[in-house]
Amino acid sequence: MRRSGRIVRQVLDYVGGLIAPGVTTMGLERAAERKIRDLGAKPAFKGYYDYPCVLCTSVNEEIVHGIPSDKRVLKAGDIVSVDCGVVLDGYYGDAAVTFPVGDSIAEEVRKLLDVTKAALYKAIQQVRIGNAVGDVSAAVQEHVEANGFSVVREFVGHGIGTKLHEEPQVPNFGTRGHGARLREGMVLAIEPMVNSGQPGTRVLEDKWTAVTADGSASAHFEHCVAVTKEGPMILTE
Ligand code: CO
Repeated sequence: MRRSGRIVRQVLDYVGGLIAPGVTTMGLERAAERKIRDLGAKPAFKGYYDYPCVLCTSVNEEIVHGIPSDKRVLKAGDIVSVDCGVVLDGYYGDAAVTFPVGDSIAEEVRKLLDVTKAALYKAIQQVRIGNAVGDVSAAVQEHVEANGFSVVREFVGHGIGTKLHEEPQVPNFGTRGHGARLREGMVLAIEPMVNSGQPGTRVLEDKWTAVTADGSASAHFEHCVAVTKEGPMILTE
């Protein structure tokens, strides 16, 4: 899983370097698919419940599962969440980053990205033998809400291994001490989805793209993290 995680990171770094005003989300998709195959892995999302692409590219008020399109041209001041999963020798990796487009984004949006990423790292600190899933979930929720933003309820993180989605579910809200206990060797895909406005969501007519109900901006960061005796081991860094 370290090898599949490393490939996901290489793809996200590569895609991040291509993001600029004028680039289309389909342009990112094509580059990512070539990169995944060059690195010897297979895309995990394409064909999963008939999802058509190797990336999810979710712009501005899109939360997750945005479908790359030739018509979606990124412009300065946008944010784009890029989510990528691969499978290598039967083991899955999954990670996401929200990138700014261009040199300047609104200060509130910059804060949204910083808070979402920091919430992910606070959650990662809870990935310890004997802790509960609720400790991970609460760490996200507490950091996000203390900063005036809201966590999405309808989409969650997950266990990952020889399948993309395994037990347990890892919500971005919860209560410390509640839920399944973490055991050595488990791997969690932790993925805070944070709205700058209200938490409500809806799904567009394409049946995939999740957007904020109030049109506010949304950010998404994700890592796969293994539970080890030495503490959290990030596999996608
Ligand atoms: Co995931």
